[in-house]
Amino acid sequence: MITCSAPGKIYLFGEHAVVYGENAICCAVDLRTRVQVKIDETVNIESVLGKTGIDFEIHPYVSAVIERMREFIPIKGVSIKINSDIPVGSGVGSSAAVTVATIAALNTLFNCKMTLEEIAKLGHEVEVQIQGAASPTDTYVSTMGGVVLIPQKKKLKRIDCEIVIGNTNMLSSTKELVANVAKLQNSYPQIIGPVLSVIGSISKIGEELVINSDYASIGNLMNINHGLLDSVGVSSIELSSLVYAARNSGAFGAKITGAGGGGCIVAFVDRMQVDNVAYAINAAGGSSIITNATEHGIMVESN
Ligand code: MEV
Repeated sequence: MITCSAPGKIYLFGEHAVVYGENAICCAVDLRTRVQVKIDETVNIESVLGKTGIDFEIHPYVSAVIERMREFIPIKGVSIKINSDIPVGSGVGSSAAVTVATIAALNTLFNCKMTLEEIAKLGHEVEVQIQGAASPTDTYVSTMGGVVLIPQKKKLKRIDCEIVIGNTNMLSSTKELVANVAKLQNSYPQIIGPVLSVIGSISKIGEELVINSDYASIGNLMNINHGLLDSVGVSSIELSSLVYAARNSGAFGAKITGAGGGGCIVAFVDRMQVDNVAYAINAAGGSSIITNATEHGIMVESN
């Protein structure tokens, strides 16, 4: 039996804009998906979503991983059990984490000797296959851990402040949201193009702020980034209520993280204010998760 895990992620800045080649800064967080694998007679996949064989409705990412890896290893039967701290379909990178953790676990079980770069690349291909469009950000950061400037894949200094995630508990589809932004961009290229490019500029300025651990200024830029995400149509009343609850209770700043539509917000918070912010998010109808940045990407947890 092999167990591999991979972390979720939050975006400091740059989701959606990154799909158009703009800069983004993304950070792995200490919420992990664990995937246990062992040889079996047939393919069995088990998670909170149910028990299936290869099944592109219930377990699309894991099913796609098995089919892709069958192109270079003879996987006849395998039993795969998934456990996760990461809320599903909420913009915190659950699909990237389960994808790269499954690739890593099968890589170890079948001794394929894939490098981390190769795991991240295959993970990205699987996300594109299932979602239609996906930047390599989520799968890269989940594989490597740390704080990463995209598209340069440059590791930045560790984030040393509290991170509070607020979940609206409303599912959203990354595929649909990315398509909606593309529609808006096609209708109003002179307006949406500059908005996406300003989001990219926020990430560029943000790089220096991360290096200087200037969390107050990072918070200001997160607030601006949230407004710009709202302007491209990916916010909602529920997301903005959690954003304002976090800001009004002392967060440095707060914004949507991930595709938006539903899912989660992220707030950067001073240690002294964490309980206030978490309480305010819950009181505004969300579910708070207090976490931290992590340097640990894929880990082989047992062998
Ligand atoms: C989703 O976590 C982030 C998006 O930018 C899509 C992507 O980068 O693939 C919305």
